[in-house]
Amino acid sequence: MTQGTSGKSRTALVTGAASGIGFECARRLGQAGMTVLMLDRSASVVEAASQLRALDIAASPIELDLADSSILSDRAKSIQSQYGTCDILVNNAGIHPKPNGFVASLDVISLCEWEEVFKVNVTAPFLLAQALIPAMVEGKWGRVVNIASRAGRTYSPRAGTHYSASKSAVLGMSRKLAGDYARFGVTVNCVAPGQIDTALARTSATATLESARKMIPAGRLGLADEIASAVEYLSSDAAAFINGAVIDVNGGEWMG
Ligand code: NAI
Repeated sequence: MTQGTSGKSRTALVTGAASGIGFECARRLGQAGMTVLMLDRSASVVEAASQLRALDIAASPIELDLADSSILSDRAKSIQSQYGTCDILVNNAGIHPKPNGFVASLDVISLCEWEEVFKVNVTAPFLLAQALIPAMVEGKWGRVVNIASRAGRTYSPRAGTHYSASKSAVLGMSRKLAGDYARFGVTVNCVAPGQIDTALARTSATATLESARKMIPAGRLGLADEIASAVEYLSSDAAAFINGAVIDVNGGEWMG
């Protein structure tokens, strides 16, 4: 069911929706009948939204830098007053700085980079959840899907300390919110991608990606749409009893 109790189409806010996994999440949720709000710091989100509108999807672009923590709560409130309750929040935007395409070793990670990674990967999902969950609780229905990473689940040689720590924080935050809000009809889950072929992955050196591919039993990198299909499922009515879960989508590279 893609409609709320009012009969109105559900609204999904997807962050980092201009490209990669976020774009595919917006496309899938839109094709499932949701109104999609596509948030990104890149001005290309305007073109991304018009691509989805060409597919008959009700998509609106929101240009916003999630690293700007001080304005996020207010912007989230103004998004709600403009578009109504966001029934679904997909915290997808994430960054992973890699100097010259290689994993940053501990000695080269500056405090400024560490804080930037945490602002985008952890603080923004926290502030958006804080701003948007109360209206989901009021409507007795909501879905929060946080995009974590295999690097937050286990050791990853391809991830920096800042990135790995931030994704583990996303998993911990999601668990807490899942426990607190399920009784109000709001579920909180994570999808933990392995190596997915997107612009973010392509910031890695070719040799790094090739050695990653060899470690994946499926013998290939994943597709953004393969993450989006898990997000679509977790956002649906069918997933109402899945709460506090982590779906690993990694071709079998890590099996828990
Ligand atoms: P991507 O780099 O292709 O797309 C990320 C999008 O987020 C871009 O459109 C970018 O403009 C936007 N974004 C980045 N910083 C932002 C900010 N401060 N404010 C607003 N928007 C911002 O990345 P991809 O691969 O689609 O990654 C999406 C999520 O999946 C991230 O959280 C990433 O950590 C996670 N992930 C990706 C993996 C991969 O192999 N591609 C593996 C594991 C996790």
